[in-house]
Amino acid sequence: MKSAFFVIALVQLLSASAAIVKRATVNDVATVGYATLNGGTTGGSGGPTTTVSTLDALTTAVAGNTKKIVLISGTITGDAVVQIGSNTTVIGKTGSSLVGVGLRANVIIRNVKISKVLASAGDAIGVQASSQVWVDHVDLSSDRDHDKDFYDGLLDITHGVTGITVTNSFLYTHWKASLIGHSDSNGAEDVAITVTMALNHWFNLSSRTPSFRFGHGHIFNSVFDSNDDGINTRDGAELLIENNVWANTTKAIKPSDGGFAVATGNDFGGATNTAPTGNFTKAPYSYTLLATANVRTTVVGTAGQTLAF
Ligand SMILES: *[C@@H]1O[C@H](CO)[C@@H](O)[C@H](O)[C@H]1NC(C)=O
Ligand SMILES: *[C@@H]1O[C@H](CO)[C@@H](O)[C@H](O)[C@H]1NC(C)=O
Ligand SMILES: *[C@@H]1O[C@H](CO)[C@@H](O)[C@H](O)[C@H]1NC(C)=O
Ligand SMILES: *[C@@H]1O[C@H](CO)[C@@H](O)[C@H](O)[C@H]1NC(C)=O
Repeated sequence: MKSAFFVIALVQLLSASAAIVKRATVNDVATVGYATLNGGTTGGSGGPTTTVSTLDALTTAVAGNTKKIVLISGTITGDAVVQIGSNTTVIGKTGSSLVGVGLRANVIIRNVKISKVLASAGDAIGVQASSQVWVDHVDLSSDRDHDKDFYDGLLDITHGVTGITVTNSFLYTHWKASLIGHSDSNGAEDVAITVTMALNHWFNLSSRTPSFRFGHGHIFNSVFDSNDDGINTRDGAELLIENNVWANTTKAIKPSDGGFAVATGNDFGGATNTAPTGNFTKAPYSYTLLATANVRTTVVGTAGQTLAF
């Protein structure tokens, strides 16, 4: 397993207001996308379960590489970075949050709600130099009342991350949503990037929905509403973009510096796709593709912190 560097910083929590709550089990493993390849992404599935509500308990519970599942209960406040071992699943119980506490790990992270992480602290979720990561049902936002660099990214995936799947998540009301590959000059490392993003709701964002450099990205069955910009395919990235829905957005897919996209079955809602056609025509795993007409009703309201454990 590659070295893991997974950062989650949380500063402020919005009150929970999920309309739809779905039962999930702490032993769930990744079943969609690149996270299912190379042995899969199982986190701590099958290991013992610990529920923590203090920083000391969290730090102790997530240490080491033996299988374990850690549930966060309530609000944990601090000024620390907690190192999480491999073979770990971290789950936020409904209404839970970490405030000022960062996590580093190569894990499954589900049902965590993060908001208003200052740029000085970092991205709401940052995954770097890792393999086999599953991010599911997270709720990420800030506001657009400050300049665009007051906060950094909501979900940034950099330094050659492979085998990451992001599903059922709600990214909204923010300037720079999701940066995949951080620099035009980092191609040697980032050409390996493999990301699957499915069943996510992207809303009220200024840019980076996502911005994708160099690697391979599979984006399907997602909803993009009222964003100022679209999917940006850059630096030779090869994207496969299937059965997504856009509304109130002018650019759905756009290229920079030689990025490509194979786009099929999308409802652009009047927005443009100006990316040249690439050669990523088939994902290297099996998956279920919802009919485009069913995507909005399936995704909106269920994406985000809507699981109950
Ligand atoms: C994760 O657990 C497996 C056994 O379940 C073990 O073989 C592997 O070494 C562990 N990973 C790390 C990084 O220790
Ligand atoms: C969209 O973002 C703006 C700027 O922060 C905010 O004022 C507005 O409330 C957001 N819209 C919705 C529907 O949340
Ligand atoms: C698009 O914008 C219009 C006008 O503001 C609004 O009525 C409609 O609900 C929006 N559609 C979506 C899907 O957000
Ligand atoms: C796909 O296109 C890229 C960029 O032009 C190229 O580097 C790569 O070799 C092509 N892959 C295949 C399988 O044709």
